[in-house]
Amino acid sequence: MAEYLPVDLSSLKTDTKVGCDLYLLVKSGADSRYILYCRGDAIFESNKREMLLGKNISRLFITKEDQQKYYEYLENNFQSIISDTSISPGERTKIVHSAATNLVKDLFNDPRSGNVERTKTFAYNMVDYVLKDNDAAHSLLKIAVHEYYTYTHSVNVAAVGTLFAKSIGFKNEDLRELCSGILLHDVGKTRISTDILNKKGKLTKEEFDEIKKHPELGIEVLDEADIEFKEERIITIQHHENDDGTGYPHGLKKDEIHLSGKIARIIDVYDALTTKRTYADAVRPFAALVEMKEKMSNCFDNELLMEFIRFLGPYDPRKKPRQ
Ligand SMILES: [Fe+2]
Repeated sequence: MAEYLPVDLSSLKTDTKVGCDLYLLVKSGADSRYILYCRGDAIFESNKREMLLGKNISRLFITKEDQQKYYEYLENNFQSIISDTSISPGERTKIVHSAATNLVKDLFNDPRSGNVERTKTFAYNMVDYVLKDNDAAHSLLKIAVHEYYTYTHSVNVAAVGTLFAKSIGFKNEDLRELCSGILLHDVGKTRISTDILNKKGKLTKEEFDEIKKHPELGIEVLDEADIEFKEERIITIQHHENDDGTGYPHGLKKDEIHLSGKIARIIDVYDALTTKRTYADAVRPFAALVEMKEKMSNCFDNELLMEFIRFLGPYDPRKKPRQ
């Protein structure tokens, strides 16, 4: 039997073709069944939406097999969905999350130029969205800090990094490139054996040397995409450089590391600590910041790290929300 997944009615634009069949869940007594409501090749007309709203129905269903088609639809209609003020900021953020997560999954499964270019386009749209709409930025940041371990983690971290860079004065074009760089920075790992990447025990020196190649392999992936990258290249090559020169691949130190590279180093470690890994559990955001400050301060530009801690401060889940 087909498996069905819910989709928010607010993500479906009227007068568009969604590309996948939409079902309605009908319950009668103890039984429930899915009935076809709108075919994927038919226009989703406003009367169809009104009818659902009139019955207080806020979601439809798609089959699991059609999930990819639905995500493509979200991506293609991204601009109009995120600028639709009839959708609440919370719902819009949820839509941004689903589309972005799917995109990052595609990128890592198949890092060919099409997906690299899609990631860049999406990151630019995502930054425009958070710049245009303060409520959106706020709700994205709140979710990103509170849901520290979810399937949308890399998207959350890209959002945190972008909003942090905005808070220290990055301007629009640089922010777009920074967001796209954070989403792309580890793409070189797709060229490293999964046996090494997923190894549970301690890595041998040879295995660690292999892992250390991923910034340069990432540049190869970007080069093959044949589109212009600036900050993305800096972030990809410098995100493992340490402030004291002990990082890789080039052992750069202090101001030899570009500001975007320094931000990426902070974000990358924050990401690693707050994500469940094969060898360790995830830690909460503020425990991660303490660990970074107390045990890893040689890795970071400390002034920038302090800025980052101050930036996340208002979102500390230990604090009571402001009245
Ligand atoms: Fe990395």
